[in-house]
Amino acid sequence: MAEHPAYPVGLRLTGRRTVVLGGGQVAQRRLPALIAAGADILLVSPSATPSVEAMADSGELVWERRRYAEGDLEGAWYALIATSDKAANRTASAEAERGRIWCVRADDADAATALTPATGRSEGVTVAVLTTEVHDRDPRRTAAIRDILVEALGDGTLAVPSVGVRPDEAPRVRPVALVGGGPGDPDLITVRGRRLLAEADVVIADRLGPRDLLAELPPHVEVIDAAKIPYGRYMAQEAINQALIEHARQGKAVVRLKGGDPFVFGRGMEEAQALTAEGLPYTVVPGISSSISVPGAAGIPVTHRGVAHEFTVVSGHMAPEDDRSLVDWAALARLRGTLVILMGVDKIGRIARALVAHGRAPDTPVALIQEGTTAAQRRVDATLATVGETVRTAEVRPPAVIVVGEVVEVGDTAPAAPGTLT
Ligand SMILES: C[S@@+](CC[C@H](N)C(=O)[O-])C[C@H]1O[C@@H](n2cnc3c(N)ncnc32)[C@H](O)[C@@H]1O
Repeated sequence: MAEHPAYPVGLRLTGRRTVVLGGGQVAQRRLPALIAAGADILLVSPSATPSVEAMADSGELVWERRRYAEGDLEGAWYALIATSDKAANRTASAEAERGRIWCVRADDADAATALTPATGRSEGVTVAVLTTEVHDRDPRRTAAIRDILVEALGDGTLAVPSVGVRPDEAPRVRPVALVGGGPGDPDLITVRGRRLLAEADVVIADRLGPRDLLAELPPHVEVIDAAKIPYGRYMAQEAINQALIEHARQGKAVVRLKGGDPFVFGRGMEEAQALTAEGLPYTVVPGISSSISVPGAAGIPVTHRGVAHEFTVVSGHMAPEDDRSLVDWAALARLRGTLVILMGVDKIGRIARALVAHGRAPDTPVALIQEGTTAAQRRVDATLATVGETVRTAEVRPPAVIVVGEVVEVGDTAPAAPGTLT
């Protein structure tokens, strides 16, 4: 039976009886995929791992707490035999053979009529790897190949060529991807963000975020610089919106690559609204926001047990006395937790004065982290009383995240510098 390689197939198990014998580690690993396939699962086993028991408790399968008995496979389309009793496995396997039920054996793959491939998923496809070796089925090898494929699909290094448009076909409009690129370190973009970047025809990128990733893009990819340097050169939001709309209409794969998370002071929703107004779809890929990750990279937790039970992220773009500001600085001064200020380098002196004037202690620690998570990361410490002066003398420049609160002082040791891990 084992002289030919197995024939690969995908089973449609929705609503179809699947019998699992044994509730141990093998069942625990295989059951989630059977549940996801919608199988009607009967588990027969005197005991089960806590995870398998939880699946039974939540109604995802029916568990009969007893040993296997002949006849249990009746009506099944598929069986997974994984008990610790070899004799029972053999009897069940013979029952499956007689009943023409495809069956997997955890203890003896050669005696089984079906083999479980090493499987993984990445963005809409299932990768299933089966060996063609009939005498040496090392599961580590198929698992390793599966891992390579899933990882490469996930991070875009194995890019799927976009499906071409026939000349008589109208261009297919793809959702514009609003991708959060993370704080700057190219390793801190999400797997999905990286994949979409690898598949893009057009990338509209900000000044902040993982700029290094742009260098990896193939030459045919059009990169549009939407750099908005504070108080300097900028590309108006309207122009960015128009570029997104025009390229999406041409059926191109468009990525709007933004620093941090698209919806944290990122104007992501304005872009989404502009696309929606034109009837164009969009998708959002969340990113790691600098508001939490940059303090973290500098050894500052935004919360810490017994020190801060809240953190507030606030824009320091407008001075506290500016009528257009929507920030209630008096209320923030009354909070005991951590205050994280983005875009606040220019106004931090006035912000600190407002916080002290409304009751926050002048000796409250403050840390400014410039260009966090990049090779140029730099941390400068001060207090609310001194930060206005310190920011000038230490020549702190944007982009910087400013952290106000006792958490600044809880870290005893600084983490390894960014870039030393790779
Ligand atoms: C327009 S906001 C965008 C925030 C972004 N959407 C996020 O979630 O991180 C830009 C501000 O984010 C902060 N910022 C972003 N990346 C940073 C980094 N790598 N180091 C320090 N601050 C950063 C700075 O305060 C900068 O002025």
